[in-house]
Amino acid sequence: MKFCRSEQEQYEKIPVEIFADSSGATRQLAAEIAALIKERNGAGRPAVLGLATGSTPVPLYRELIRLHREEGLSFQQVVTFNLDEYYPVGDDHRESYHRFMAEQLFNHVDIPASNIHIPDGNVPRDSVFETCRNYETAIEAAGGIDLQVLGIGMTGHIGFNEPGSGRDSRTRLITLDRITRRDAARDFLGLENVPRYAITMGVGTILQARRIVLMAWGQGKAAIVARAVEGPASDAVSASFLQHHARAAFYIDQPAAAALTRIKHPWLVGAETWEPPEIRNAVCWLAGRLEKPVLKLLDEEYNENGMASLLAEQGPAYTLNIRIFNELQHTITGWPGGKPGADDTHRPERALPFPKRVLVFSPEPSDDAAGLGGTLDRLVSQGHDVQVVYQTSGNLAVPDSQAATFARFLLESARARSTGWEEQVRYGESLLKDLEEKGPFGVDSRRLRDLKGLIRRGEARESARILGLDPERLIFLDLPFYEAGRYRRFSLTGADTAAIGMVLDRCQPHQIYATGKLADPSSVPAQCFNALAEALRQRENHSWRQTCTGWLYSAHDRQLEPHQIGMAVPLSPDQLSRKLQAIGKHPSQQTQFAQTGEPDQQTARRYDRLGLAEYEAIEAFERWF
Ligand code: GLP
Repeated sequence: MKFCRSEQEQYEKIPVEIFADSSGATRQLAAEIAALIKERNGAGRPAVLGLATGSTPVPLYRELIRLHREEGLSFQQVVTFNLDEYYPVGDDHRESYHRFMAEQLFNHVDIPASNIHIPDGNVPRDSVFETCRNYETAIEAAGGIDLQVLGIGMTGHIGFNEPGSGRDSRTRLITLDRITRRDAARDFLGLENVPRYAITMGVGTILQARRIVLMAWGQGKAAIVARAVEGPASDAVSASFLQHHARAAFYIDQPAAAALTRIKHPWLVGAETWEPPEIRNAVCWLAGRLEKPVLKLLDEEYNENGMASLLAEQGPAYTLNIRIFNELQHTITGWPGGKPGADDTHRPERALPFPKRVLVFSPEPSDDAAGLGGTLDRLVSQGHDVQVVYQTSGNLAVPDSQAATFARFLLESARARSTGWEEQVRYGESLLKDLEEKGPFGVDSRRLRDLKGLIRRGEARESARILGLDPERLIFLDLPFYEAGRYRRFSLTGADTAAIGMVLDRCQPHQIYATGKLADPSSVPAQCFNALAEALRQRENHSWRQTCTGWLYSAHDRQLEPHQIGMAVPLSPDQLSRKLQAIGKHPSQQTQFAQTGEPDQQTARRYDRLGLAEYEAIEAFERWF
């Protein structure tokens, strides 16, 4: 079925509501759920909800809990069916969806245990088929699902319906996709711990729900959301089958909407207002599409590609091309802290003051090297006063095997001393005992988390040395939200903002680098960004704040598009190899992220193709303030 509400949405085959942020979206959905519960209960029937797991629904569950506590919403007459469960896992596994649902919702509302249904990930292999069939029967017996809540995986899956899942598939055992397992690796503290299978409701089961709302947050989801909404309905992206449902909708935040045509290429769907960033976007898009440098674009090419109004307003092509070319050209600078003694009218950063006090905020040790290692290198060698602030310790991301190596080394060197090191011996022994007792999925003791944090501090210092940065200039904040939390379950408090605020007050920076603005709101970078943004907001009127500039970098997420770039810092082959060396000084992270120069080289290639100078690599920044 083709859905289209307006000219702007003509490419969208599912209704999409774009919200400023996830809280607006979840408030609206929670209100709809509350109304449904009351309406069904009023008619003497339970409301049947289909529920999802992952980070995405966490804010929804928080809002439902609030409605229960503060507004008396009762779940006594609510029946729930969860989409899926890993297989094989026990209910008490810390990453099981049973545990997740208990911790995130069920333990905090008045739902009777007998009303809760989650596929059993613990049944023997030869009972799986029967379990799945019984799950379908239970849904039918409950009268079908009134409202199904969904998230979307990076493979476009709903539930765990990986690519290849048919439109009519039912509840069944499925093999998890490589990408899905990689995405879950952090939660499971290592890829090797992620189960290979899952039991999931089928696409057909999901489509039978009377109402479906899929939520998605953060720029990481933008591309897959656009494919599901605007692409063909096919088993390559199981969420695209929602196009066949009469009452399905997507509730997404702005970063997750970024790849929809109405946002990415608004001129293609009738938007006629040409604001400067959009003009640059359109010109770069046209150049990319025609594989031509900006300066060679012709009048007729603008006309033939939906930009006649732009040309009429700002043309001819010759003038427009030169203007955009110059704008792009002016983003390039080898002086990220400003070039002293040079005219800075067209430079991204002001020349004075020089040297600048620069604060680089890095959510975890290693984000700085990966995101702006080359720029750090330049800032330091150009004489600026640079400090790197590691917002979290990053200790959750250290595999047990690394901790064990350090603990064994410590123990061995302590034992090699004849006397006076008994305490160190005991410490080493207790670390190894903690590791053994908790097993691969257990929660780390405080002692272990501290050790893992120290490992990352050591890596950060080695990495800084490569970039010419004195390790004394590193600040480790170990923000409390991270130390108290787990992936997907972090929540910021005033203590986080206060810790960042103290650094700002002490340094009074002229320039700030940060990341995480568009990230999934539950992720570590997003939490870190929000804490920093709040600390800055509280200091809006401070005098240093009036002249301070803020730049956003991307560490492990999507690279900026040319039209978003406010500052492009070229790296020579030598600088790139130093950056890679610095990244390589984080061995505990080797399995987490690809450690190549590819993203920066790709940015350089894109600039080259637009007709700008050809560099080995470019680190790109978006202007924040
Ligand atoms: C898992 C779940 C899905 C969920 C997806 C995305 O694969 N089975 O139901 O939508 O993860 O997770 P997140 O919301 O954390 O991005």
